[in-house]
Amino acid sequence: MTLCFAKEGTEVVPLILLEETDFNGWLVNQPTSIQNWCEVHNFKAELGQVLILPDLEGNMTSAVVGIGTAKAREKGRFALAKAASKLPKKTFEIISGLPDELAEVECLGWLLSQYTFSRYRQCQKECATLIAPDCLDRERLEAVANGEALIRDLINLPASEMSPVALEDVVRSIGKRFDADVQSTVGEDLLSNNFPMIHAVGRASDIPPRLIDLTWGTQGPAVVLVGKGVCFDTGGLNLKPGGSMGLMKKDMAGAATVLGLAQMIMGLEVKVCLRVLIPAVENSVSGNAFRPKDILTSRKGLTVEVNNTDAEGRLILADALALADDAKPDLIVSMATLTGAARAAVGTDLVPFYCDNDYDAEIIMRSGNRVSDPVWRMPFYEPYEEVLESGIADLDNAPAGGFAGSIVAALFLRRFVEHTTRFVHFDIYGWQPKQAPARPQGGIGQGARALLDAFPDLLDL
Ligand code: BES
Ligand code: MN
Ligand code: ZN
Repeated sequence: MTLCFAKEGTEVVPLILLEETDFNGWLVNQPTSIQNWCEVHNFKAELGQVLILPDLEGNMTSAVVGIGTAKAREKGRFALAKAASKLPKKTFEIISGLPDELAEVECLGWLLSQYTFSRYRQCQKECATLIAPDCLDRERLEAVANGEALIRDLINLPASEMSPVALEDVVRSIGKRFDADVQSTVGEDLLSNNFPMIHAVGRASDIPPRLIDLTWGTQGPAVVLVGKGVCFDTGGLNLKPGGSMGLMKKDMAGAATVLGLAQMIMGLEVKVCLRVLIPAVENSVSGNAFRPKDILTSRKGLTVEVNNTDAEGRLILADALALADDAKPDLIVSMATLTGAARAAVGTDLVPFYCDNDYDAEIIMRSGNRVSDPVWRMPFYEPYEEVLESGIADLDNAPAGGFAGSIVAALFLRRFVEHTTRFVHFDIYGWQPKQAPARPQGGIGQGARALLDAFPDLLDL
């Protein structure tokens, strides 16, 4: 689906946004009928309150939306989206009260509130639409919203539809749209081209594993985005129990997120030399599945003792990161639904990210806040490096003890980035567990908008 603002020239209903603190000042200037109308509806411009203002015949003349106070807005995100879902299915134009610093994110929220995953539904949702306010870059917001919609769609698709081969098809069609180059190394070719761990993790599936490689752009700093594309994670021979496997169609959320971000970057013609690497596999169970205690030799040459086939994400990412690192780009970003431990640490809403450079971390945090895509820095805590030691190989993919699982996984990945000075890793969840404004239950992009906003400062664009 395409998320967009309403066409100019559509018949519009004026929309007034009101801060709670401005409510009384506004009310005294209204006719008595409106004052009474507000009173009987108990409208006080609280966050998310909506009131339709009628004429004396009862026709809608305009609508008012409460945006509460700055304090109340801190408790959630996308205040306007919350209101939009309560408005009738008409086209609205904001005529007053949109604070400058909120305009971009609130209008983006409106667009995102129009998203539904409707492929398997007979009846389609109809939404209230918005005229793009003049102060905003309409094309930019639409590009961002549609990048996000892509992320959600890819995550929401069942694994039967979003297999490694289907994921490659998606990358190819996006590549075509933006004139990007797309290469893919599939099945046995992973062995001859030295991606042994991607092959080992993915070989038990009937759909061959692959490394998808998209490149685009000729100007500016070199940026590589690496996304975990585990199209379904059964856990492998260390099979997940049913309850833990239930949501594992979303284990390609890292891939979806870097693709959505790539679509935003290409659509907005951001001046970077972009590369997207997606190791795409199914972590399946079969006679030829990789096993606990197998020792894998990675692309980089480091050997890895497999102590849990369910710690598969770091294995496939390691080979992709080693490839990314060969070219010494200016920045490598990995995004992955890597650990359950990340959820134990920060919940489903916040995204932990790892980054060695304080200045970069600060920029990313600030951008996340600015665009309502909250991320939180975690440490590449050096003393935990020793946890990764295996008695028999260079590394252990699933150290016993299990404490600080998200940090340990991040440290594992960092071992494969040697020549590139800037490496940022996001341990995302990729799923909205319950409906919230602009975020329906289901797949969700995490960290992509924060990064897009951070790029100019991060990369001196
Ligand atoms: N894809 C999972 C992590 C995951 C689980 C993310 C649930 C989001 C929700 C990953 O492949 C995994 O299974 N990780 C294991 C690692 C462990 C075996 C060292 C985990 O976190 O339990
Ligand atoms: Mn797993
Ligand atoms: Zn996984």
